[in-house]
Amino acid sequence: MSKVIITGACGFIGSCLTRRLLAEGCRVVGIDNLSRRGTQLNADELEALDGFDLRRLDIADAEAVYAAFEAEGQVDAVFHLAGQVAVTSSYENAQRDFASNAAGSFHVIEAVKRFTPSAWCFYSSTNKVYGHLRVHVPVGLTYPLDPYTPYGVSKAVGELYFSEYGRSEIGLTTCCLRQSCIYGHNQYGVEDQGWVAWFAIANLFDKPVTIYGDGNQVRDLLFIDDLLDLYLECWRRRLTGVYPIGGGSANSISLAGGLELIAKITGREFGQVASEPTRPGDQPYFVADLSWSEHAGLDWEPKTGVRDGLTQMIAWIKENETAIRRAIG
Ligand SMILES: NC(=O)c1ccc[n+]([C@@H]2O[C@H](COP(=O)([O-])OP(=O)(O)OC[C@H]3O[C@@H](n4cnc5c(N)ncnc54)[C@H](O)[C@@H]3O)[C@@H](O)[C@H]2O)c1
Repeated sequence: MSKVIITGACGFIGSCLTRRLLAEGCRVVGIDNLSRRGTQLNADELEALDGFDLRRLDIADAEAVYAAFEAEGQVDAVFHLAGQVAVTSSYENAQRDFASNAAGSFHVIEAVKRFTPSAWCFYSSTNKVYGHLRVHVPVGLTYPLDPYTPYGVSKAVGELYFSEYGRSEIGLTTCCLRQSCIYGHNQYGVEDQGWVAWFAIANLFDKPVTIYGDGNQVRDLLFIDDLLDLYLECWRRRLTGVYPIGGGSANSISLAGGLELIAKITGREFGQVASEPTRPGDQPYFVADLSWSEHAGLDWEPKTGVRDGLTQMIAWIKENETAIRRAIG
């Protein structure tokens, strides 16, 4: 039985990954400070499952992170997903953003070095490390790191530490994915983060939405189950390196197109749609060039088209209306 540590285990991606790994027979130790709204619901559900233990702690606290890793000893894989996730909040409180994403990620990879050096270590980076991105072509392996926004910088710092600790002098096995827009079930999207889920929730619960910019910003959407398939494939192959990831060209859509498609699927018009100027750091276009996955020998491609993924996400929102209303306030 494999034993895995997941930081951010009670968040959107982390809780889905935890359920998936438990279903595959792994033992999962989750680390989370439950700071994100909705995470207490995930924590309650996960703690009822066999094979899961939660360590409630803040990764900004180095000693707490080291103690948690030391207590577990050698594990098979570490998925580092915990962090501050919104660009807006990174401007409001850059100190906190730095503590969670830059210092917190350093504590996690340093803990791996000290207590479980042979684990395969994954870091969830972001397309925000590319900065303004004025190109309108898919972003491949050679596009330079040029972070913009405090969030982009703090995530890039974490990524650089994971990469550095993966070099031969330190010798860990590390892999970073610069994730674009991930969406799906169990996502408590809010205006500041998780726009696809937020639009669907707003449509179904008659909440006003605001479009920042002209709505023509393009994103490639990757459905959560496809992302988890990729995580497991990368772990199976002990893949190392840094890669851009999203749904690719076939699954790209504009914000305005996303609104339209959600309304079509639910059969409900949006109530109030307001317009505001573009927010800082909002890339006009991001689509990942996925050709690296074949070159890296991975048996993976996104299987869930945008319409299908949105339909599944909308069904989950309808089935969980009470919990979602409680989670997002
Ligand atoms: N969802 C996306 O589209 C997306 C895109 C790019 C990158 N990412 C990255 O993937 C990771 C997971 O994203 P998500 O969408 O699941 O976000 P999420 O907010 O749902 O999950 C993050 C989790 O980390 C926890 N957390 C936050 N700060 C912490 C701290 N200091 N100590 C301990 N726990 C802390 C939160 O409580 C939450 O459970 C994040 O690192 C994020 O930057 C996500």
